[in-house]
Amino acid sequence: MRITLHVWRQPNATAPGKMVKYEVPNVNPEMSFLEMLDVLNEDLIAKGEDPVAFDHDCREGICGMCGAMVNGVAHGPLPATTLCQLHMRHFKDGDTLYVEPWRARAFPVIKDLVVDRSPFDRIIAAGGYISASTGSAPDGNTLLVSKDSSDRAMDAAACIGCGACVAMCPNASAALFTGAKISHLGLLPQGQPERDTRAKAMVAQANAEMFGSCTNIGECEAVCPKEIKLDVIARMNRDFIRSSLAGR
Ligand code: SF4
Ligand code: FES
Repeated sequence: MRITLHVWRQPNATAPGKMVKYEVPNVNPEMSFLEMLDVLNEDLIAKGEDPVAFDHDCREGICGMCGAMVNGVAHGPLPATTLCQLHMRHFKDGDTLYVEPWRARAFPVIKDLVVDRSPFDRIIAAGGYISASTGSAPDGNTLLVSKDSSDRAMDAAACIGCGACVAMCPNASAALFTGAKISHLGLLPQGQPERDTRAKAMVAQANAEMFGSCTNIGECEAVCPKEIKLDVIARMNRDFIRSSLAGR
């Protein structure tokens, strides 16, 4: 396959960036999108040029490190798929693809396709944990958790923190991510003691990081590679309001 790429190149956080056109003539349809970028980079390195910087780690859809806008869609055109699991067979020979970093004020570009997602870490640090003493594993097994609650907690816990939800949201809101983290703890008995304060602290931190507000557009849910549902945002809002009304 032959693919024409227009890739956002930006040498550092403060320098201006621009789209640069590259031809990749030897793309195997079974390559992942990241492997296709590897091929481009091998060619650039051989020519003595700077390779395209992009984030990656597991390359199996579980770590949340990878991500870029492909033709304006976070993680590309395939639903429920991270960029590392998007294979070139889903494109056509001769396609032209525009590859850009996540766009959000809270995620400044570090270089090329790499953005700073440390605001997510600070949202987690604000309350995405359980500090109540929960004992050891046998103690945990004595606490009954309903099947419905454990299923919903596990669904929310599937969030890998990739940031696609923010990148796709016209408001650059982190509500799906924050809601997922609040929900997966708040649905379990161990998460109850800090449930209200957790929601308040994490929402406050998301606001402090300059993420936008959620207006229920739903682009986040549409591109989330882990299919996190909008329900987590409703749950977050309910916990937040409850804690505000209780003056906690
Ligand atoms: S909610 Fe989905 S899109 Fe957002 S960070 Fe989590 S896994 Fe990524
Ligand atoms: S590299 Fe780990 S999810 Fe893509």
